[in-house]
Amino acid sequence: MKILVLGSGAREHAIILALKDESADHELFVSPGNAGIAQDATLVAVDQLDGGAVTTFANENSIDLVIIGPEAPLVAGVADALRERGIPVFGPGKAAAQLEGSKAFAKRVMDAASVPTGRAVRAASIADVEAAFDDLGAPYVVKADGLAAGKGVIVTSDRAEALAHATHYLPDGPVLVEEFLSGPEVSLFFLSDGDTVRALSPAQDFKRAYDNDEGPNTGGMGAYSPLPWLAEQFGSEQSFVSLVTEQVALPVIRQLDAEGTPFIGLLYAGLILTDQGVRVIEFNARFGDPETQVVLPRLVTPLSELLFAAASGTLEDQPEPVFSDDVAITVVLASEGYPEAPQTGRQISGLAAAAAVEGVRIVHAATAGPDAPGGDLVATGGRVLNVVSVGTDFASARAQAYDAIGRITLDGAHFRSDIAARVAE
Ligand code: AMP
Ligand code: GLY
Repeated sequence: MKILVLGSGAREHAIILALKDESADHELFVSPGNAGIAQDATLVAVDQLDGGAVTTFANENSIDLVIIGPEAPLVAGVADALRERGIPVFGPGKAAAQLEGSKAFAKRVMDAASVPTGRAVRAASIADVEAAFDDLGAPYVVKADGLAAGKGVIVTSDRAEALAHATHYLPDGPVLVEEFLSGPEVSLFFLSDGDTVRALSPAQDFKRAYDNDEGPNTGGMGAYSPLPWLAEQFGSEQSFVSLVTEQVALPVIRQLDAEGTPFIGLLYAGLILTDQGVRVIEFNARFGDPETQVVLPRLVTPLSELLFAAASGTLEDQPEPVFSDDVAITVVLASEGYPEAPQTGRQISGLAAAAAVEGVRIVHAATAGPDAPGGDLVATGGRVLNVVSVGTDFASARAQAYDAIGRITLDGAHFRSDIAARVAE
């Protein structure tokens, strides 16, 4: 197949690696990509936010499938432009992507579909926010309405801090004040063709910047899959997945279909398992990053078949995706100052030594260069690299990952040392 992937992060690199692993015959194009993706696919320069430009490229190059990685092109309507011209595309149109693009839209759809989620109040002024805090109590959860790359949410018991966050985002429009939910978090991905869904294997993301879940929220500092502890609570992973399929994914997909805005692509359910049951904390309209980096290495079913079936409305004919019994973990290497003010432009060394560790792959998130042949790559963003480690158990997968990341040098870089530590015990 000829496949075009839009995006430039570790998620897109992981998608490319999965496609490359399943068949050497695919022709893989990525725009804009990064220095690591360039080693595994052909980089092309197509404005990923310009539906017309992407459509022209796809037509001129006889692309069989377009996979949209990040949320920005989805919210910009790039999938609509492709679909109008009959080009198979994995990713929802602008309207359905509001599930991620607007937290208020997501809440409305969940209400309409009776999907369990936290109680939330829309607050348009500081007085509204204060009233909502009084009503819902501490800890306080405040969410900016639009896309904010994981940074629009604050969860804190410090009322002054929560108010300051609301004050920062209120000029952009109303914020959501949400009931605090407590429990382990699960990221569960569903492929959807607008009608039928197929679940992937659950993963857990580490959202806070530092060990022991301290520090600010980030885009994600690490992940692991599967989640063996789900079986203790739900009898089996499969019964958990079935429950979320019935209570969350199918009602939302049916609701969006009924509204005339079918969701074709990846429905990412961010869940909290509270004592009162499973609650949705957020939806995303695309593969999660870094969860994709641990879910796809365990996927045995060819990824291109699943995504093509979703894009072309034939998911019903696909059997349930099969996953290996291996475990996977990923540790994110972040630039100094991430998430507040990442320092970029610094050189990275030791990548070959890191990739030589058994079971390890280096997946690139924000790299460029080298400036001269044989030179070092440079970091171009906050989350720079992912060390992905696959093994038979979490203890050995962790040992491999941390051996590998220890071989990489990037001045001032930081990573969490406790990814999958508890599940490895
Ligand atoms: P979101 O961008 O909505 O996924 O929120 C980012 C992170 O904030 C989530 O992964 C949770 O860790 C936390 N969070 C969001 N909403 C809540 C909530 N209602 N209660 C507790 N934690 C939350
Ligand atoms: N890992 C969180 C996200 O992809 O939004």
